[in-house]
Amino acid sequence: MGIVLKSRDEIRIMREAGRHAAEVLQILADAVRPGLNVLELDRIVRKEFKKRGVESPFLNYQPRSDVPPYPSTVCVSINAQIVHGIPGNRELAEGDIVSMDLGTIYKGYVGDTAVTVPCGTVRPEAQHLIDVTRESLARAIQAATAGNRLGDVGHAVESLAKQHGYGVVRKYVGHGVGRSMHEDPSVPNYGEPGKGKPLKPGMVIAIEPMLNQGTGETREDADGWTVWTADGSLSAHFEHTIAITPDGPEILTLL
Ligand code: MF3
Ligand code: CO
Ligand code: CO
Repeated sequence: MGIVLKSRDEIRIMREAGRHAAEVLQILADAVRPGLNVLELDRIVRKEFKKRGVESPFLNYQPRSDVPPYPSTVCVSINAQIVHGIPGNRELAEGDIVSMDLGTIYKGYVGDTAVTVPCGTVRPEAQHLIDVTRESLARAIQAATAGNRLGDVGHAVESLAKQHGYGVVRKYVGHGVGRSMHEDPSVPNYGEPGKGKPLKPGMVIAIEPMLNQGTGETREDADGWTVWTADGSLSAHFEHTIAITPDGPEILTLL
């Protein structure tokens, strides 16, 4: 299927889906501390979703038959884990950097958002990676205006990463969002200005830079889901769901 443009009414609903995702992700971010069992993050999500009438697009998600269904409501990726980490019986430690990715389904529409947060005090190098990755998302969002192209969005991430010597993950990309979590188009975190598909009002996309301290190369875990940096270096990940409007990009997953 090609790119599905959303009506103003659909974007109104997606704003609600996005707000639930943003609010629950903030609750998770506030819960992160040394000694927290990662399983508790999934428990918090289940409780909050139930209260809000939200469902999870992650739980039992199975993009291909050769991977197991995803067993949780949240992805928690720690240190050299990039994305899709499965919450397990593990305690967070002081100095960890913790990437959390959360999806909602509300009134039939998906919100998708992620942050990386420090657990307690982290090394300055780790904090810098987090800060640059957050900034790369901000710049990519600024570039996501109608009339610009996907290459402009990807270039915003890639150029900032390069300035700081960080590797851009190329194997995993952002995506269109709507009734499904993953729709067309793919939204890479690299590209050439002026190239790629044009952005149009009514498009809703998830932009999600993943930056590594080392190279952008990845390694998949035997669990079928967790993605690691190939060189064992730290990785950070931020994501927002963005609607392209005639007045500019609107972040649907902002608090
Ligand atoms: N939310 C992820 C993304 O940003 C996808 C997670 S799929 C899961 O595209 F199954 F791992 F949850
Ligand atoms: Co996500
Ligand atoms: Co996404």
